[in-house]
Amino acid sequence: MNNWLLVLICAVLIITFVFFIWLKEDRKYESSSSVASAYDNWTNDRLLERLWGHHVHLGYYGNPPRSKDFRRAKEDFVHELIRWSGLDKLPRGSRVLDVGCGIGGSARILAIDYGFDVLGISISPEQVKRASELTNQGVSCHFQVMDALDLKLDQNSFDAVWSVEAGPHIPDKQLYADEMLRVLRSGGVLAIADWNERDFYNQKMNIFEKAVMRQLLNQWAHPHFSSISGFRENLMNSKFSKGIVETEDWTMQTLPSWNDSIFEGFRRPQAILGLGVNGFVKGVREIPTILLMNWAFSKGLMRFGVFRISFHT
Ligand SMILES: C[S@@+](CC[C@H](N)C(=O)[O-])C[C@H]1O[C@@H](n2cnc3c(N)ncnc32)[C@H](O)[C@@H]1O
Repeated sequence: MNNWLLVLICAVLIITFVFFIWLKEDRKYESSSSVASAYDNWTNDRLLERLWGHHVHLGYYGNPPRSKDFRRAKEDFVHELIRWSGLDKLPRGSRVLDVGCGIGGSARILAIDYGFDVLGISISPEQVKRASELTNQGVSCHFQVMDALDLKLDQNSFDAVWSVEAGPHIPDKQLYADEMLRVLRSGGVLAIADWNERDFYNQKMNIFEKAVMRQLLNQWAHPHFSSISGFRENLMNSKFSKGIVETEDWTMQTLPSWNDSIFEGFRRPQAILGLGVNGFVKGVREIPTILLMNWAFSKGLMRFGVFRISFHT
């Protein structure tokens, strides 16, 4: 048999195998424990960390987007959100809570570059362990396992609350908003960034969009998304409301992240290959979801929303 034909048959078999695993073994949201165990697995196999570094969030590429290194874009994202939310106006030593802190990439920037005293919380014990390992002694940044829906923290005890891409995993968006605003002091700074669905009042989802949405939810343990205006209402209507909430849509600024998340596998092949066959299959398994995310964000089914409390009089 012609060698090329053999390679083609193998490639089709591998793709079919991966697609089958992707469709069958989805990671549906069941409870906060299912989110915790999904992140424990993603942390323990080190795939995300080796591939994407210390930040489990999208990068910032400007508008119009400029091509740049993916890891650099992630750091730029943190600085952009700090500037946009007004966090950079707070004095050094201010207390900042990072809700859904991942392995602490943003929390360390907030502590090291801006001198804040940061507490990062995550539902995943393995993330908290890894975040602590990655943080040098003397850096004013600590991590605890805690549920965003039940913050064991005093009312008005933080000067700022930061939360990046944690909301999609949270079933009760009103309670998520309430808890963050409860611990934020009056006049404090809020910086939230999230994946949001478009408002469906005017334009309902068609059949194809519904099928895509099902995968976006079930593959990465998301109960449901809120829209930008819906979550703004949660923040504004909260019993702990701290003022007018402003939003922006950063879909364009963050869009190249999806393709970059895949290209990183080619730029840093050792990151995946070094994890053996299992790591390779796990890495390839994420590609269909990333492609669907890219499609959904570029076609307007999903929007990237950022939220802050207005500091303009
Ligand atoms: C996409 S990651 C973002 C991580 C981090 N913010 C970053 O930017 O690198 C989502 C994070 O939200 C956390 N998370 C999800 N549900 C949570 C909950 N109910 N309470 C606390 N953390 C939660 C996950 O453990 C994970 O750390």
